[in-house]
Amino acid sequence: MRLGVNIDHIATLRQARKTYEPDPVAAAILCDLAGADGIVCHLREDRRHINDEDLRRIRETVKSHLNLEMAGNDEMVRIATNIKPDMVTLVPEKREELTTEGGLDVISMKDHLRDIVFRLKSAGIKVSIFVDPDISQIKQCSSIEADLIEIHTGHYANAVLESDIIEEFEKIRAASVYAEKSGLGVSAGHGLNYHNVKDILQIEEIEELNIGHSIISRAVLVGLDRAVREMIGLIK
Ligand code: PXP
Repeated sequence: MRLGVNIDHIATLRQARKTYEPDPVAAAILCDLAGADGIVCHLREDRRHINDEDLRRIRETVKSHLNLEMAGNDEMVRIATNIKPDMVTLVPEKREELTTEGGLDVISMKDHLRDIVFRLKSAGIKVSIFVDPDISQIKQCSSIEADLIEIHTGHYANAVLESDIIEEFEKIRAASVYAEKSGLGVSAGHGLNYHNVKDILQIEEIEELNIGHSIISRAVLVGLDRAVREMIGLIK
């Protein structure tokens, strides 16, 4: 299973003082040297962590695989087609949210998203769609010709009762099997950490995990190199 490390929260720490450190580009290099398969970052409409200049420098630096999370709108399509990440992950975005709260509602935005997917793919960028583990949503992802999906694991990660954890896990498993059969690549992410990732590893259809907050949180205490290597040790 591949690991994409989301480095948004390196920039969150910088923005706490609106200064120049820590630099997300330095973090991207360290993740790469520690063996991460790729770097993930989210350019949000409000630029609360990663900004346009970070993205430009990250693209210049990251030679492995750059996955840009973004909202599906004209401004972001313009930026992506200019910067050319290896992949875009389309996510829902609300200004007030602390973090991405759920998958995209592909059913209700089908025509709009089909156009966005087409424009990104025409520019040579692979397109992933962040969705809840819901078969009817995933069906639409293949109908609008996304290359892959990223299954939202946030409900699984937030579940407390054993019965809820099992229920959420089974949804992720069923969604992964369905997506793979539909010809979609399958990745997963959100809220995964050094403990709850273990069960997710049993799902063979999932090819990649995108993990941010738990790795960066551990990095504050043990260093980024060790934090990335420890996660790789669990998932490889
Ligand atoms: N995948 C997507 C689509 C996300 O929006 C995020 C959060 O930016 C992540 C993965 C990583 O989530 P976390 O920071 O909880 O590991």
